[in-house]
Amino acid sequence: MPPLVELEDVYKIYYMGDSEVHALDGISLKIERGEFVAIIGKSGSGKSTCMNIIGCLDVATRGTYRLNGKDISHYTDDELAEVRNKMLGFIFQQYNLLPKLTLLDNVSLPLLYAGVGDVEQRERAMLSLERVGLGEKAKSFPSQLSGGQQQRASIARALAGNPSVILADEPTGALDSKTGREVMEFLKELHKEGNTIVLITHDNSIAAQAERVVRITDGKIVYDGPAEGDEMVSKQDKAGAL
Ligand SMILES: Nc1ncnc2c1ncn2[C@@H]1O[C@H](COP(=O)(O)OP(=O)(O)O)[C@@H](O)[C@H]1O
Ligand SMILES: [Mg+2]
Repeated sequence: MPPLVELEDVYKIYYMGDSEVHALDGISLKIERGEFVAIIGKSGSGKSTCMNIIGCLDVATRGTYRLNGKDISHYTDDELAEVRNKMLGFIFQQYNLLPKLTLLDNVSLPLLYAGVGDVEQRERAMLSLERVGLGEKAKSFPSQLSGGQQQRASIARALAGNPSVILADEPTGALDSKTGREVMEFLKELHKEGNTIVLITHDNSIAAQAERVVRITDGKIVYDGPAEGDEMVSKQDKAGAL
């Protein structure tokens, strides 16, 4: 079987007037089914750009992206939307729940987009909410929940479509450390159940909880290997801000 995610010499270049920003500067990366990978790097290193490309929210300027063996580098917006709905689940730092919808409706939404029928939408959304321990809050609105509960609801939304890859961009970034730990425990549990998880973080202690760490500096991969061990932390980071 081909790797689930395969980036080959991927560049993302932003043109600002006369200057170019190489947000990704030749990234090659393979992720197999069932892996738990943390992509780590300082602010501005290119993590979100990388996640947006893996998540089909953006396309590379150059290079190839194969998802489950299919080259999707030149897909149209509509084709990318379909891939997102069928294969990817997203968890964001700011939860991105819609305030005017109940949790059940929030979690149903990606299923609606994926063309799942009404009854099945509700059933799957409810199961997904129960799985994160929020079954009783199905009729609540996001503003009635704590930050940790909102993040769990957003995890339920990501899971509802039974995605091939779960992408989490700084999922603990807006949470206190205890709630953050709970969210990490939950992601680890999902990994144990066989899910493929790509976690974006600037925090070494969060990244260390994954199996594999990919470190990005200035749009380039500078480390790709096991999460444990000293090499994971670059010399620069040891001396500096992290
Ligand atoms: N839409 C954009 N236009 C111009 N520059 C951008 C845009 N998005 C990101 N960048 C630049 O690309 C680099 C990587 O950004 P990003 O992927 O958001 O980093 P990170 O998530 O690691 O903080 C940064 O220098 C950022 O300023
Ligand atoms: Mg970012």
